[in-house]
Amino acid sequence: MREQLEALKTQALEQLAAADSVDELEKVRVQTLGKKGELTKILRGLGKVSPEERPKIGVLANQIKEAFNQALAEQQALLKKSAMTARLNDEQIDITLPGRTPDVGSIHPVTRALEEMTTIFTHMGFPPATGPEVEDDWYNFGALNIPDDHPAREMHDTFYLPPAHDGGKRLLRTHTSSVQVHFMENRQPPIRMIAPGKVFRCDSDITHTPMFHQVEGILVDEGVDFGQLKGLIETFLVRFFARELPVRFRPSFFPFTEPSAEADMGCIFCDAKGCRICKNTGWIEILGCGMIHPNVLENVQIDTEKYAGFAFGMGVERLAMLKYGINDLRTFFENDIRFLRRHASVGGE
Ligand code: DAH
Repeated sequence: MREQLEALKTQALEQLAAADSVDELEKVRVQTLGKKGELTKILRGLGKVSPEERPKIGVLANQIKEAFNQALAEQQALLKKSAMTARLNDEQIDITLPGRTPDVGSIHPVTRALEEMTTIFTHMGFPPATGPEVEDDWYNFGALNIPDDHPAREMHDTFYLPPAHDGGKRLLRTHTSSVQVHFMENRQPPIRMIAPGKVFRCDSDITHTPMFHQVEGILVDEGVDFGQLKGLIETFLVRFFARELPVRFRPSFFPFTEPSAEADMGCIFCDAKGCRICKNTGWIEILGCGMIHPNVLENVQIDTEKYAGFAFGMGVERLAMLKYGINDLRTFFENDIRFLRRHASVGGE
């Protein structure tokens, strides 16, 4: 029996040393020390051993168990270590790589310009108002002194929608001047507001996109005059561009204002010296304005004997292009991530 036990010990230790996985180690353990294992089998013959010899065999069996368990533990540790080394070699981490920064959203330059303009006008006492983008003929044209057959309609390439239930024309507003009608029809002077928002025209080339943004503004009160309008526009431009720039007012025509003017600003691309962008004139046209036509005020039941008003309207993209030095209008709407990053502003800087 002693030889049997010694043989078992040698065999089991060899098997342990040869095992190359934790599963295999467990198999050897069960085969050797398990209830139905080799050791139990051998010890079943203990009854045939002489009483003097029996305790010695017991001691030997225990020594074998101990030796086995120790070898098992060592082999387990060895396997664990080599598994870890293999993993470390496998998953090499380059700690010199830069970290991954999450993409942070930013404010679109048009939104940014719109917000800046709104803030400046609000500080000057002109809070923002909104109106619908789908209008009928009255709000977009009629009430603004643009009758059906008026040639001024040609200036606006209108997107018409299927007519309303009552057969009335429906269209996408071509300017935010429509908002002044909504705003004034429910109020009496003093009235001050700006209307920032989207407008739509069926037009698309280098300098036109079918959707763009405008800021309209009005002031109606007693004793309002053109000088106040000029002062307001000049102050706004200095604040928006954060620099002094020459501004001039040229006579113009709009059906909803009389007299009407267009304001030009010294070209910021060439310091008013003349360049391709200002067509060598040194001036860039930036907005339309004038004294509100009495017909418009009467259309919203405002007494023209007592009150007068001025109005102005400007294109947001155009002002944003000038302010941020962008020379192609279409880049605003192409969503090219490089363009957006270049003009990024996070959290309304
Ligand atoms: N509504 C005009 C346009 O879209 C802009 C405009 C011009 C607005 C003169 C005004 C104004 O209020 O007085 O072309």
